[in-house]
Amino acid sequence: MARPGRKKEFGVGIIGYSIGRVHAHGWQGVDEVYHPARAKPRLVAMAGRTRERVETEARRFGFKKTYTDWRKLVADDEVDIVDNCAPPYLHAEATIAAAEKGKDLVCEKPMARNAKEGKAMLEAAERAGVAHMVGYNFRFVSAVALAKQIVDEGLLGRLYYYKGSYLNAAARYEDPETPADWHHSSEMAGYGALADLGTHAIDLARFLAGEVKSVQSVSRTFISSRPEKKGSNKKVKVDVDDVTVSALSFENGAAGLIEAAWVTPGRTDSLTFEAYGSRGSLRFNLERMNELEVYLPGEDSRFNGPRNVLVLGREHPFMTRYWVNQAGGFSWENSFVNELNHYLECLVEGKSVSPQGATFLDGYRNCLIMDSMVDSARTGRRVDLSAG
Ligand SMILES: NC(=O)c1ccc[n+]([C@@H]2O[C@H](COP(=O)([O-])OP(=O)(O)OC[C@H]3O[C@@H](n4cnc5c(N)ncnc54)[C@H](O)[C@@H]3O)[C@@H](O)[C@H]2O)c1
Repeated sequence: MARPGRKKEFGVGIIGYSIGRVHAHGWQGVDEVYHPARAKPRLVAMAGRTRERVETEARRFGFKKTYTDWRKLVADDEVDIVDNCAPPYLHAEATIAAAEKGKDLVCEKPMARNAKEGKAMLEAAERAGVAHMVGYNFRFVSAVALAKQIVDEGLLGRLYYYKGSYLNAAARYEDPETPADWHHSSEMAGYGALADLGTHAIDLARFLAGEVKSVQSVSRTFISSRPEKKGSNKKVKVDVDDVTVSALSFENGAAGLIEAAWVTPGRTDSLTFEAYGSRGSLRFNLERMNELEVYLPGEDSRFNGPRNVLVLGREHPFMTRYWVNQAGGFSWENSFVNELNHYLECLVEGKSVSPQGATFLDGYRNCLIMDSMVDSARTGRRVDLSAG
């Protein structure tokens, strides 16, 4: 775990410049939004495969150095935190190498391609005694954090049913002519819609409803080969899911459902959850991320019914530092600022990022659940995770 009082400024090295740009913006936002920040990030280095592109992105955000070999970033003495924003095929190798160099760690979701790799990453981080967090940024959306407060305060009563869903067709994967990319290869991504989207829904299910006991899943791959490039006749095999749906049992006895699909035209970023308990319920949709539907029956029956709470007030989680409560609203990028600021605060305090943030243990358990879903879909059997 992190060393308290060690220092107040941390050199950041980011591997990958796609979601890596969003992280760069997030690290920059820490001292803007949380000024004066408890700990300041310094953008030291960015690594990517294409020299020209990595140099362009690095310049844009003010990184001092660029590398096309991630090993050089990991070996750089000015880098204290390695933030792995590469695709899943590079998560375990580069993150374990960074842990062995004593770097503190951030890794994008899904933490690994499978639970075996995830376990190796968790063990490497624990062996090295470094800080670790997986980029489940939606935990840092104010409305989601408010939902967590409501559940933790017991306001829903006994939880009966939780439904989590992530449907995102932004990449146009419903179209068979959309070319293959790393998301379509189990070798590179682990799983398909499940690893890309379902992993977020699983994380929020664990965050809000607790540990998963068993899963029973159905998966479909509708488009089993795709053009290698746009307009090409050469086809590449797709060996991952387009849709995975799972019925769950939670350790606390609640029933659940998790959906992940990227062949859902019209749904651009529909990450939703619903939680129903003996005393009330909650409903959230990322496409309306500043709102939380809350049903908590009050004394006056005339006003009973779900209420749409605008989560923009100073009393709401993370909102004291934003001035968005007059119009506009909190945005997706802000969740990364909150997440990375939380990581830095925990680092200087020598605390785990849990329970607000996701540790490598959360990342590993998430991988175990995905492995079990794929296993269940393949065999048609329910898979029990209690022993995992
Ligand atoms: N938290 C979120 O909401 C969110 C959103 C998007 C992506 N992601 C995750 O972020 C990760 C990256 O996704 P992406 O969409 O940015 O992918 P991408 O393919 O668009 O970009 C990957 C980046 O990694 C770099 N890279 C790949 N192999 C490399 C290597 N061997 N050496 C150095 N650099 C290398 C590439 O140059 C590129 O900059 C994935 O795990 C994805 O699931 C998370």
